[in-house]
Amino acid sequence: MTDPSAAHDAAVTDRTRLVGSAYNGDRDLAARQSLYRWQTPRYDLPGLVAERLGDVRGSVVDIGCGNGKFIQRLRQDRPDLSLLGLDIAPGIIAGVPGPVAVADATRLPLATRSMDAALALHMLYHVSDIPQAVEELARVITRGGVVIASTNSDRDKAELDDLWQRAAGDVLGTGRGPARISLSARFSLEKAPALLGERFRRVEVIELPGTITVHEPGPVIAHMASYRAWADQHEVPFDATIDRARTLVADHIARDGTYRITCLGGILVCRP
Ligand SMILES: C[S@@+](CC[C@H](N)C(=O)[O-])C[C@H]1O[C@@H](n2cnc3c(N)ncnc32)[C@H](O)[C@@H]1O
Repeated sequence: MTDPSAAHDAAVTDRTRLVGSAYNGDRDLAARQSLYRWQTPRYDLPGLVAERLGDVRGSVVDIGCGNGKFIQRLRQDRPDLSLLGLDIAPGIIAGVPGPVAVADATRLPLATRSMDAALALHMLYHVSDIPQAVEELARVITRGGVVIASTNSDRDKAELDDLWQRAAGDVLGTGRGPARISLSARFSLEKAPALLGERFRRVEVIELPGTITVHEPGPVIAHMASYRAWADQHEVPFDATIDRARTLVADHIARDGTYRITCLGGILVCRP
């Protein structure tokens, strides 16, 4: 029998899938990002990162920069910094104003100690060789430099995992259906300090707990549907499960007035 978690790990890091489907544009990433509009407290993540870069002067690289949410904000708030965005997916950086380039976190096209800071935000869980990427982050920053990573807890949005299993069970006609894929599991907030601690002397963890409250299913279902690149990993028809989840959330809202999701993300600030 195949181990579903090993298959999920392989799919989360599968380069063809990342480049060709998950991040060939920013539709799905934007759907995931926009769910946080309904979160309390509302964290200004780019602002928090900018704050942590307060004493940094010089060059900053954003690795796995995606649709440029962070570098675009930094370009605005910190015009003094020289900012570079790197990502393996040409499709997702196509709309991000330069300088940006295609590059892999495990083989950075950057000289040793050439960067004053490096960002790896919600991306290390997609890298198949995480220790090698951590090695690269440590290599490219200066001795007094800083690396800022971010990810989600294993407990993040547990209600959505439960919703998926209930919806999948209804579609399959079996009580609870199979678990959905977890993107951050390989580099969760619980695992990240040890992985980063291999190369960084100080790793500060800033937890960002919150609650998302919606009054209609749309934003939650858009977030769930943003996993479509991994639809084949679920042993249940993806669209039918999404439709069923929409009905379950709508029923919940009709009953209780709102639907709530508990979130736990975090930022890791690492120094050599
Ligand atoms: C969840 S998105 C995060 C984007 C952005 N950092 C943010 O927080 O909004 C993950 C990004 O990492 C990129 N990525 C995945 N594996 C990578 C690798 N090995 N090297 C560089 N980028 C990678 C993906 O293409 C995608 O744009």
